[in-house]
Amino acid sequence: MLVLGIETSCDETGVAIYDSEQGLLGHELYSQVELHAKYGGVVPELASRDHVRKLIPLIKQLLTKINIKSSDINGIAYTAGPGLIGALLVGAAVGRSLAWAWQIPAIGVHHLEGHLLATMLESSIPSFPFLTLLVSGGHTQLMQVNAIGQYSLLGESVDDAAGEAFDKTAKLLGLGYPGGPALAKLATQGNPETFHFSRPMTKQPGLNFSFSGLKTQVLTTWQNQESKNEQVKADIARAFEDAVIDTLIIKCKRAIKQTNLDSLVIAGGVGANQRLRESMTIFTEQIGVKLFYPRPIFCTDNGAMIAYAGALRLMKGQCEPLEFSAHPRWPLANQT
Ligand code: KG4
Ligand code: ZN
Repeated sequence: MLVLGIETSCDETGVAIYDSEQGLLGHELYSQVELHAKYGGVVPELASRDHVRKLIPLIKQLLTKINIKSSDINGIAYTAGPGLIGALLVGAAVGRSLAWAWQIPAIGVHHLEGHLLATMLESSIPSFPFLTLLVSGGHTQLMQVNAIGQYSLLGESVDDAAGEAFDKTAKLLGLGYPGGPALAKLATQGNPETFHFSRPMTKQPGLNFSFSGLKTQVLTTWQNQESKNEQVKADIARAFEDAVIDTLIIKCKRAIKQTNLDSLVIAGGVGANQRLRESMTIFTEQIGVKLFYPRPIFCTDNGAMIAYAGALRLMKGQCEPLEFSAHPRWPLANQT
């Protein structure tokens, strides 16, 4: 079965073709970074309009590149939420319209299910059940994945998501948008010994996270510096990154102990962070847990994860009627 995946939940237009027999045939990604950069963050209305402009040309470009005719496609999967409502509606409307025109089934996919399953596009994959740390711009969650569609939430952020903390901290250090990768790059120049920030909510029991206090610690530290030079900024970036990574590792360790699971998957945009990947590798090797993560481009938003998650559901015969809806907020648990 050949499935076209469409991702338009935020500031990336992603499309992909997944073949249930041969795997991923191709994917294309158009990032709106340049469009939003001058505003210092994503402007929802501009995001929707740009998806309108880019989505259909991107689908055409992909089909030409991998030499697939529209008549070869057997199903369509589009992100139905959570995300920006206008942006979601573009993907949903195009996905449903193409499905109607081509007389094939279509399905709305949960964006976080896409992130959770993105690792399945790689050559080495975990077996069920496994633990997933989902760290994106909108969510920080620890999930137990028992089977496709059977997800139980073990803990989540009570305020900012890890990616959001990266973005906000980057902004107050004047690094602009997109903040996460810029802050991570600057942190490579930083001295880890100069500053120390707390590891939030690690002294209390439980698997929830809180990252909003970290940006206040960064702000106060930055404001208190007499010389606000690039080295100080890099040292702060490094200390912030260390605090986030340590916190994530402490909670993963706790979740592994609580669940007894022996496989850990890192998913979502922050999973592209090189130092997080290295630190998680060392930590899991020490405790004998298998670690899995998607390649960096499939950690951040992309069409391939949506095509994959949608293909699994379409193959089970699931699809939706012609009318459709999108959900700006949508809990992931119980997706069966
Ligand atoms: O999964 P994603 O693309 O979108 C959401 O579903 O939210 O995640 C985007 C988030 C942003 O907050 C971005 O700053 C962060 O992932 N991110 C990173 C890195 N690359 C992306 N954070 C830290 N280091 C990175 N290398
Ligand atoms: Zn995402």
